[in-house]
Amino acid sequence: MPRISQMFIGTAVIYVIIGMLGGIIMGAKQDFSLAPAHAHLNLIGWVSLALMGFYYNANPAKAESRLALIQFWISTIGLWIMIPGLVLTLRGAPAGEPIVILGSLITLIGMILFATAIFRKTPSLR
Ligand code: HEM
Repeated sequence: MPRISQMFIGTAVIYVIIGMLGGIIMGAKQDFSLAPAHAHLNLIGWVSLALMGFYYNANPAKAESRLALIQFWISTIGLWIMIPGLVLTLRGAPAGEPIVILGSLITLIGMILFATAIFRKTPSLR
């Protein structure tokens, strides 16, 4: 498996473990106020990033590109900013809103870069 795929899937599985623990804590406390943060951590952090990892695994020439590495870090940093911002917002802290907006925009740029990686022509490895 290319290193970039290992990075995507290896970090994604950590996010889903954190997300599942959060889900269990929500259920145990019967406090579902952080459900949107749980959902976004799982769906962006686990589902989307793992899918990206599998895509690069299926396209080794693209996995070697600099764009793939840049895209990994943009998507990762976006998530790292977005989720705490979402938690703050859901907890009612006004400071959370600009953070979640910034994180969301960076996350969107990560997905646009992923689209660019998909549609960009790359030389075949063979
Ligand atoms: C141990 C595993 C998990 C537990 C215990 C768990 C628990 C929960 C709980 C308690 C809620 C709130 C339900 C409510 O508001 O009534 C929830 C919502 C949700 N979960 Fe999970 N979850 C788990 C894994 C996942 C995974 C892996 C995903 C996605 C890949 C996911 C996606 C969602 C979504 C989309 C919602 C709805 C959020 C919303 O309504 O704002 N969950 N989960």
